[in-house]
Amino acid sequence: MLIRSAKEDIKYVMFSREQIASRVREIGQILSEKFQGERPLMICVLRGAAFFFTDLCREMDCLMDMDFISASSYFNGTKSSGVVRLVKDSSIDMEGRHVVLVEDIIDSGLTLEYLVKLFATRNPKSITTVAMLDKEVDKPERFCVDYYGFKIPDEFVVGYGLDYADYYRNLPYIGVIKEECYQ
Ligand code: IMP
Ligand code: MG
Repeated sequence: MLIRSAKEDIKYVMFSREQIASRVREIGQILSEKFQGERPLMICVLRGAAFFFTDLCREMDCLMDMDFISASSYFNGTKSSGVVRLVKDSSIDMEGRHVVLVEDIIDSGLTLEYLVKLFATRNPKSITTVAMLDKEVDKPERFCVDYYGFKIPDEFVVGYGLDYADYYRNLPYIGVIKEECYQ
């Protein structure tokens, strides 16, 4: 693993800060209309969705509650372990609520599928899923997210909350790192 600085490690920028902001604004408007007159329970899946979540909530013009959960399906690498663990649960009662689950990225789809199944047992009024990125993974039966920011090719990306071994989360853009950083 060769981690230097973002400047040296980033191969190219996939989405700039401005592109992200304008897309988040659009999704915020769509969700504002969808939940007009309601008070959705916005749930952030930490840590990857942290920036997307806080930006998205600020683009929404409706009452809301916010909570933060933490799920893990990755182990300091670029491949999913396939096993999802809920590291931190929500402490807010979901019964009869419009729950909005906000994720950073859908890869295999296992994390979101697991969370939706789990939260469905708590009798919410509805569950809406939102992800900043949706990877075009060749798996037909994969979980479908309701709203996404951008579709991306099956490449490992970092920044805007997304990490590689906990590095690069704080980059204000989404980019791809050079191969030598993985070795
Ligand atoms: P899934 O369960 O395979 O859909 O994986 C979802 C989780 O894996 C995301 O919430 C991310 O934390 C992580 N992940 C998947 N792809 C990437 C990537 O390209 N960069 C960084 N993290 C990723
Ligand atoms: Mg995540």
